[in-house]
Amino acid sequence: MANEPRKTLPHSLIVQRQLVHYLADGALCSGQWLGEQLGISRTAVAKHLEQLQQYGLDLYKIKGKGYRLAQPVQLLDAALIKQQQQQQAPVWVQSVTDSTNSQLMQKLKDGVTPEKGAVLVAEAQTAGRGRRGKQWFSPFGCNLYFSMYWQLEQGIQAAMGLSLVVGLAVAKVLQQQWQLPVRLKWPNDLYIEHKKLGGILVELAGQTHAQCDVVIGLGLNIRMPDHTDKVVDQPWADLTSALGQPIDRNLLVALLQHQLVLELQQFSQQGFAGYVQEFNQLDQFASEQVTLSSGSQTITGLCAGVDAQGGLVLDINGQKQSFYGGELSLRKAL
Ligand code: BTN
Repeated sequence: MANEPRKTLPHSLIVQRQLVHYLADGALCSGQWLGEQLGISRTAVAKHLEQLQQYGLDLYKIKGKGYRLAQPVQLLDAALIKQQQQQQAPVWVQSVTDSTNSQLMQKLKDGVTPEKGAVLVAEAQTAGRGRRGKQWFSPFGCNLYFSMYWQLEQGIQAAMGLSLVVGLAVAKVLQQQWQLPVRLKWPNDLYIEHKKLGGILVELAGQTHAQCDVVIGLGLNIRMPDHTDKVVDQPWADLTSALGQPIDRNLLVALLQHQLVLELQQFSQQGFAGYVQEFNQLDQFASEQVTLSSGSQTITGLCAGVDAQGGLVLDINGQKQSFYGGELSLRKAL
């Protein structure tokens, strides 16, 4: 990955991106016409589009007529993101990748340290990862798969607060730019109208008390495909439905990079304590009975916000207790 155009991008990915570019406005295009634009045969067009469907592109084939996207698509565009960027660190755009988090983690393993605040986004992930070993549904062209590199001077123990600050930064962008009433579910989820809008996966490489490398992954639903309910087993929301109109994904990438860098700089200097009130105001489960689980163990209590380290505070029979750890799962008590 480099900031200049990739010389080694596979030819098929270039062709596929161009095909989506021609189909992007949602109009019907014949295979013949698409082939002529790209200088390839109709059979080749059909093969590439089949591959794109396997990557999750929501595409219809209309017999004897051609192809049409279920909804218009705005492709991620490195040049358009750059025009709107307020940060110096690069934003890399990939078409299809295994996982944007895995790509940045691999870079670190290879001994390459990106600039703090560098971002990688992709149109589709073939092995998108969620928390607690889950898969992250990552169809082509419709959502946002975003990873940022950061460094923590305070070591791994500061990571709990960090993931909450990431959620706050995303919520701020969506509130300020699009007036969306986003809520946060401890420790890593974004909600809108009681449905999951996105999730955060923070991965660390380094020692407990020394500076460590951080990869911050964000998956945000922008416009889920029509067949999503067959694949995702929990109530979900997307930004296009919440807003009632399409969202500019390139602008969103630039705004997210900027807000995340600002908040993470502040967090690195001052820690989480200054964010407690802000988080508690957006807490999805504030003052509700919740169940916290880890493996087969569960604890039920009243959600009493977060503490100065970013731990979840539960009021259990009148006693307040804090809980820490990214592997914990929180839900409303039945
Ligand atoms: C969750 O389980 O809620 C967290 C989901 C995080 C998904 C994002 S998408 C970009 C980045 N790359 C991945 O493989 N995962 C994260």
